[in-house]
Order: sequence, then structure tokens, then C-alpha cells
Amino acid sequence: TGYFTYDPGFMATGSCDSSITFIDGAEGVLLHRGFPIGELAQNSDYLEVCYMLLHGDAPTSEQYKEFKETITNHTMVHEQINMFFHGFRNDSHPMAMLCGTVGALSSFYHSDLDVTDPSARIRSAHRLIAKMPTLIAMAYKYSVGQPFVYPKNDLSYAGNFLNMMFSVPTEDYVISEAVERAMDRIFILHADHEQNASTSTVRLAGSSGANPYACIAAGVASLWGPAHGGANEACLNMLEEIGTVDRIPEFIARAKDKSDPFRLMGFGHRVYKNIDPRAKVMRESCHEVLAELKLDDPLLDVAMELERIALSDPYFAEKKLFPNVDFYSGIVLKAIGIPTNMFTCIFALARTVGWISHWHEMMSQPGQKIGRPRQLYTGETQRPYTPIKKD
Ligand code: CMC
Repeated sequence: TGYFTYDPGFMATGSCDSSITFIDGAEGVLLHRGFPIGELAQNSDYLEVCYMLLHGDAPTSEQYKEFKETITNHTMVHEQINMFFHGFRNDSHPMAMLCGTVGALSSFYHSDLDVTDPSARIRSAHRLIAKMPTLIAMAYKYSVGQPFVYPKNDLSYAGNFLNMMFSVPTEDYVISEAVERAMDRIFILHADHEQNASTSTVRLAGSSGANPYACIAAGVASLWGPAHGGANEACLNMLEEIGTVDRIPEFIARAKDKSDPFRLMGFGHRVYKNIDPRAKVMRESCHEVLAELKLDDPLLDVAMELERIALSDPYFAEKKLFPNVDFYSGIVLKAIGIPTNMFTCIFALARTVGWISHWHEMMSQPGQKIGRPRQLYTGETQRPYTPIKKD
């Protein structure tokens, strides 16, 4: 009944108004609260970006200090979460563990579950930003059979995550400044990206009044797929499969062949029809990190040559397919020592602030309606039902 627009994939649907992030896909512009992503990646840090996404403006020094302290105070998870991890097979994909454990947070923080209370919403945002690195590092430790490492509150946000990932009881992890900075930059570059699939999922889940931990678990699930957050893992696997530069033309030909489902992972974007501004920063960061760590990764040569060949190929030019953020982030994550199957978790960690900021913004707007798309029905018309014999 009534008129609706048929728009599969929401190619032309604006679902909300938002003042968090601006993207001009044709020009390759990305702004958070008006600040260009390149400047943020260069001159700010992830917690400062978290503050501006959640609270609407860059913090003063005082506000930054207080925010940092608050996040630091919430980094631990309840000891019972340890037992939850032990219920998983140890060869589970870390994203599988993350979907479950993030959702489980809703069983601990009952005072956060009143989604109509703005202070409860902010409290749940703080908890999620603070606990995501802890849960992700626990998923990793569990999968490699090592003891969990507790958060250390004298470290930076990125430093604490790296320490929880790589410290072992017999040896402290020494965090190199270059690695810590590279990790923080990856977090900044993935912090928010307006109404992408996972953020839209969080908003849709939240539109029913569901609690924030359940909504973020929905976002984690949506992020997992290879067309979205799973692309960084898929991209590195692809570069490894290509292996050497002489095999690139074969893979380019496959990407162009419509009878072959293969796509160049890390290429193309629904919104950017120009270079992804995050990819520009990531590309520089990638070179910096490999130089500072004195690593000579042959995958970077494959990536550079693949980028060069693809960009000069009419197929990619006509379809406006450029490298996206995930084309280079995998190489940086690999250089940092993060295993490939953890890449999507890193994306989830960084995107949590975007998800929760959008959820908070939506819940703060008066007159919110439940998200309820319509469909084009293609099934049977009405027909009589004849009961079958059941014995
Ligand atoms: N390799 C080869 N061809 C491609 C690619 C690719 N990576 N991406 C798009 N195309 C082609 C596609 O086959 C289609 O061709 P035709 O018009 O002849 O049928 C055309 O380009 C348009 O593609 P689409 O799938 O209709 O575009 P979309 O906006 O629905 O999809 C995308 C966007 C990102 C899912 C897609 O480009 C893709 O699958 N890329 C690879 C996966 C990837 O890197 N994803 C990460 C996105 S950035 C991180 C994030 O935000 O999650």
C-alpha cells in the first residue's frame, strides 16, 4: 500500500540527517566534524578523533585529558568474560568471538540499558571505546593459546592494545614509536565513514530501541563480509596469492572477466569515484613504517605495481575504480605483526566510535522512527492452501 521507491543496495537513498562525517566521493574528500582526514591523521590522535566524533567538536586540552582518563578507567572487562571466551573453539575466527563477546557486554551494564537517557548512552560509548581493544586482544590470545594480558593504563590507547596483543608472561613487549604511531593512524583512518553498511546496520538495529551493546554486535557482524571490513584481510590474501609482479596481468584479466567472480580486493568504493583520501594517507604511512622498521616486504612491490597497472587500465578508469583504504592497510598491519585473520577486528575496533556516535546522534534526535524498508514482492499471488497428509 502507498508509494515507495525501489532502491536495492540503497544506491540513492538518504536514510537520515547527520552532522558527523562529510564525504564528497567525486572529489575524494572526507571530513570529520569539518576537519579533513589527512590533517587529523597527521596531527591528531585517535582519542581526540573519538572525542570529536562523539561530542561534536575538537576537545580543549582539559576535555581531552578528562576523556582520556575516562576511557582509560573503563579498559577492563568483567572476569566472567574470560569464561565466555573459553566456550569458543580456539580455531574460531576472531570476528566470531567478537560478535559474541560484544553482545554479551549488554548482560553486565544494566545501568546503560536505558537508551532514552543521554548520560547512559555516553557511558556505554565510553565503555565500548575502552573495552573493544581488550576484547580483541583477548580473542587473539585465546586463538594462539596464550594467557590474556590485562590492560595497562599508563600506556597510550594504541600502545595498550599492542601490549595486550603481544606481551607474554616471559617477556614484555617493547613498543616502537613508529609502530604505535602507525597503529594509531590506522585507527584514525577507520574511525567513521558515514552511512556505510555496518553503520547503517547499527542505526537500523538501534531504531527499534535495542541496547547499544547489541547494536554494536550487529555492526561487527555486518562489517565482517569481504565487501566491507573483510576487504583488508581479503586484500592481503590476494597480494600473497599473486606473490610476484609477473603474475599481476593474470589477476587483472580475471578482475575484468565478468564470468569470473574474482575482484581486485582493496579497489573500488560505493561512494568514492576518485582516490579514497584515506588510501592516500595509508600509502604514505605504509612506506614510512616499512622504512622505519627496515622491512623490505615484497608484497609492497606487488601492491605498487598492481596499483600502477590497474590505474592505467581503461576498465578501472571507466568504472572509476581506485585503491581504497584497505589496499594498503593490510601491509601496514602485517608489518606491525598483526596476523591476517585479525585485520577485520582492527577495523571493528576503530569503527566502534563511528558506530556509537551515529547511534547516539540518532537516539538524540526527536521523532525518530523505526527503520522499516519495504520490498518488491515477487512471490505467488494468493492461492488456496490444501493440507497435506501427515501420516
Ligand atoms: N574489481 C573489479 N571490478 C570491480 C571492482 C573490483 N574491486 N569493484 C567494482 N567492480 C566493477 C563491478 O564488477 C561493476 O562492473 P559492471 O558495471 O560491469 O557490472 C562495477 O565495477 C560497479 O561495481 P558494483 O559492485 O556495482 O559497485 P558497488 O558500489 O556496489 O560496490 C564495492 C562497491 C566496494 C563493494 C566494490 O567496489 C568491491 O567489491 N570492491 C572490492 C572489495 C573492497 O575492497 N571493499 C572495501 C571497501 S572500502 C572499506 C569499507 O568501507 O568497507
